[in-house]
Amino acid sequence: MKSPLVKVFCFLVLTVVLYNWIGYAITDLSGGAKDTSAAVDISPEGGETLYWGKGRCYTCHSLGGQGSAVRGPNHGQFGEKFPLPMGSRAVERAKERSEKTGEEFTAVDYVVESMADPGAYVVSGYKNEMAVVYAPPISLNLTEIKAIVAYMMVQGGDLDMEAIDSAPSEISSKFYSKIQAAQAAGGGDPGAGATVYEDNCEECHSLEGEVMVGPDLSTIGDKGVKFIAESILNPAKSITPGFETYNVETKDGTMIVGVKTAEDANKVTITNKSSEEIVIAKTDIKSMTIDENASVMPEDLSEAMTVKDFQDLQSFMIMQKAEKKEGE
Ligand code: HEC
Ligand code: HEC
Repeated sequence: MKSPLVKVFCFLVLTVVLYNWIGYAITDLSGGAKDTSAAVDISPEGGETLYWGKGRCYTCHSLGGQGSAVRGPNHGQFGEKFPLPMGSRAVERAKERSEKTGEEFTAVDYVVESMADPGAYVVSGYKNEMAVVYAPPISLNLTEIKAIVAYMMVQGGDLDMEAIDSAPSEISSKFYSKIQAAQAAGGGDPGAGATVYEDNCEECHSLEGEVMVGPDLSTIGDKGVKFIAESILNPAKSITPGFETYNVETKDGTMIVGVKTAEDANKVTITNKSSEEIVIAKTDIKSMTIDENASVMPEDLSEAMTVKDFQDLQSFMIMQKAEKKEGE
């Protein structure tokens, strides 16, 4: 009976038990070890902890008679203004969203949207001032957001963990990837990033597939954060093929610098950094060379930005993808 194998087995079991016990004892000793940053379960209980803690929802929302904040809608059933608690209210809101967008919103989709893209639907009587809860300073991760969705859904609604976590709808999946992308880019706020983009980039780039002075950026997210950061910080380091900088000197001594946007047998078109198209007859050209060390895109764009602007911009850029990736 007492084969060496049995002995080895008993020894292993003992070691594992002892190891776990020591582990317990140590975490107990180190002051409870209830690290508040520890991962929560994707469950209504996990969501409750976050709602009244790290997620700071309670600073703007109340839930029925719990809490006192009124800046955002009450998430419970409360007086005449809130006849339905959030879980069943979400069903009503989802109907409105489906009609408005033409996409089939579920209650879960609505709650996910309210966090992923708060400005998409602004509850009447309130301002569009819901916090971006996955951006600093709140910075909830996707797991935490799912837990909070579960907590919102049990307020008078049906809890469908599949729809929240394991098999989210297409709509929720898109929002989840947006949240993940924003976090991958240093936790920036893509909404604020859109404004940074409009102020600094829009004059040269399109997000709709159009080629302007600069390349179309509608799928730039697929190239990754590092590529995007480098393109902004150091545009000349790797020039996008087809967008080389041309120096054209005409016979009367004028120097024209820009991207060559068209050419035929008789003339070339150079688009300069102010997006002006300059058409030059070939017979007027004295020399035309490519400057490999310069980009028409300014080198100093990031200098005028704060670190936050830059992170926000990155998270906005990373969201520009051809194919929105699946939730996880
Ligand atoms: C800075 C204040 C603020 C914080 C923090 C905040 N919210 Fe909001 N929230 C609002 C406001 C204002 C609205 C109403 C405007 C709108 O619809 O965007 C709102 C709307 C909502 C709605 C839609 C309510 C409805 O009746 O349809 C949900 C759901 C929601 N918030 C969830 C949350 C959760 C969960 C958190 C915490 C993770 C949170 N909010 C944090 C201000 C806030
Ligand atoms: C004056 C015009 C101009 C402005 C303003 C400008 N760009 Fe560009 N951008 C270009 C040109 C031209 C290129 C192609 C040459 C190169 O790669 O440097 C380019 C290239 C890029 C690329 C690489 C694209 C690829 O597919 O290889 C990215 C990313 C980019 N720009 C992002 C931005 C962002 C973000 C901003 C705003 C902060 C911005 N650009 C502002 C002209 C501009």
